[in-house]
Amino acid sequence: MDTQQPLSLLGGLTPEQFMRRHWHKKPLLVRQAIPNFKPPVLRSEMFALAAEEAVESRLVQQVKGAWKLRHGPFARRSLPAMTQREWTLLVQGVDLHNDAVHQLMQQFRFVPEARLDDLMISYATDGGGVGPHFDSYDVFLLQAHGRRRWRIGRQKDLSLKDGIPLKILADFEPEEEFVLEPGDMLYLPPRYAHDGIAEGECMTYSIGFRSPARAELAQELLVRLSEDAADDEQVQMYRDPKQEAVSEPGAIPASLQGFAQAALQRALAQPLALERALGEYLTEPKPNVWFDAQGSGGMMEAVRLDRRTRMMYDAHHVFINGESYRAAGKDATLMRRLANQRYLSAKDLARASDDALELISTWCDDGWAQPCADIDLAP
Ligand code: SIN
Ligand code: CO
Repeated sequence: MDTQQPLSLLGGLTPEQFMRRHWHKKPLLVRQAIPNFKPPVLRSEMFALAAEEAVESRLVQQVKGAWKLRHGPFARRSLPAMTQREWTLLVQGVDLHNDAVHQLMQQFRFVPEARLDDLMISYATDGGGVGPHFDSYDVFLLQAHGRRRWRIGRQKDLSLKDGIPLKILADFEPEEEFVLEPGDMLYLPPRYAHDGIAEGECMTYSIGFRSPARAELAQELLVRLSEDAADDEQVQMYRDPKQEAVSEPGAIPASLQGFAQAALQRALAQPLALERALGEYLTEPKPNVWFDAQGSGGMMEAVRLDRRTRMMYDAHHVFINGESYRAAGKDATLMRRLANQRYLSAKDLARASDDALELISTWCDDGWAQPCADIDLAP
């Protein structure tokens, strides 16, 4: 993506300007971010998704002033009547189930793939909302259908109401208010307080981000590094020829502590081990994702990644769906192009090595990529 090209999606800002001025810093309201926006998911399709076991969905309702939260799946008949006011259905990860929604999300790839999470759709009847709250991640709120009134504020006091199943701010102090129409979009940085209330039936798309927490990341990486350490061919036992007789047998020897530290340092110091573990972790498919294995039939005109596939790279590796490959030279260039564009043209494939072609064809067999028509989009 050309990061210096002004985008109507960002109200005429270039991605570069947006990231510098707004990302993590301040909200941005964009009228007609997507002009003439036609929501790619019908209400009935959204309800059908909410009925599926593998799809994460929630229902938020205010019943006689009290907040109620239920988790899906929801059979159609278990949802409140359309005529009933003040309920919201939230369906997470719609980009994994719908190609058009996945395509819509691609417009936000001026942010690294490693930070993009999913697209959530919320459907609400008149007066519906999830209450004043803040989120830990950045979000783009794209109005897809109907109108929603947003009130937002910088909010210092982030204390929450007690005794309710939702995170609702105890003392919300809105500073600004906007009514969003279809195609309008509101960007909010992390921890910015907001409350969106449907004015009539409404649908909002939230483009959400993910951001690993330090402790969770350390845990994930250490698990992977420990697997590598278990494969270490050089078996080295702790030896203590100089151990003296002890009168306090309960005390752990200092030299054993030193050995433990050296063992950990060795695991961390393996060349590229950490980079590899990070790439594998970041491209790991979500737990509810599975791919439909399919024969590629051997013939590929062009190829595109399946919408569920996560592909990234670093200076030495290519990562796809939790697997890593060392890549260098021409093949690395090709694989990086696939990760960036999620597509390789016939021209690209014609230049690929046999090894690269074989790998791509295995990914097609696994359902991670699909042969497709050639649409030479790249120079
Ligand atoms: C909604 O779309 O109803 C809620 C989204 C949010 O506030 O994060
Ligand atoms: Co929110």
